[in-house]
Amino acid sequence: MVLIAPSLLSADFAKLKDEVLSLEEAGADMIHLDIMDGHFVNNLTFGAPVVKALRPYTKLPFDAHLMVEYPENFIEPFADAGADIITVHAESTVHLDALLRKIKSFGIKAGVALNPATDENVLKYVADIADVVLLMSVNPGYGGQPFIEETTEKIARVKKMLKGCNALIEVDGGINALTAGKCVSAGADILVAGTTVFKGGEYRKNIESLR
Ligand code: DX5
Ligand code: ZN
Repeated sequence: MVLIAPSLLSADFAKLKDEVLSLEEAGADMIHLDIMDGHFVNNLTFGAPVVKALRPYTKLPFDAHLMVEYPENFIEPFADAGADIITVHAESTVHLDALLRKIKSFGIKAGVALNPATDENVLKYVADIADVVLLMSVNPGYGGQPFIEETTEKIARVKKMLKGCNALIEVDGGINALTAGKCVSAGADILVAGTTVFKGGEYRKNIESLR
């Protein structure tokens, strides 16, 4: 059963608590938190204090996607803020193995994210440490972009690579009813969606359309 992780990037930032409550009510499996620092990507969203503020209002897992430089500086703050998964970009560190182990040392799940142009062979030496592999199906930084079609084959290749490992495959960007099917058939376990989920305010219907 595919898990749906709505991204708060497309939420109304003036009422994030209510949005989280509505997403839980609408059947979301986890909350995808797009953390952007204005350096790794050309956009700036929110940090650990906002995550900490939202934490008490839902039991849903918080899936923090760190699109930041120096991710090593953000592991403890987001672990303390209540993140259940912290995903770092392979492109943002030279010490990916150590960084994933650092995340796990806080007793939470560690994810590694790959941008569209990043070769999946990066995963070879961390496949048995990573709990989640996040494959970007758009170039990170903004919601509402079109799905990059080559991602489907990349999912299938990563699925094969991870055979025998416990890592879940998460796909992020341009996910709608059409692309969701392609991703799941190729092997995706978790789908991140912003635009599609928040469209027209019908969260439950939109989430169901992805399942
Ligand atoms: C982009 C983010 C994605 C994005 C997905 O940098 O990582 O999570 O918000 O948004 P949609 O579903 O609108 O493509
Ligand atoms: Zn994301």
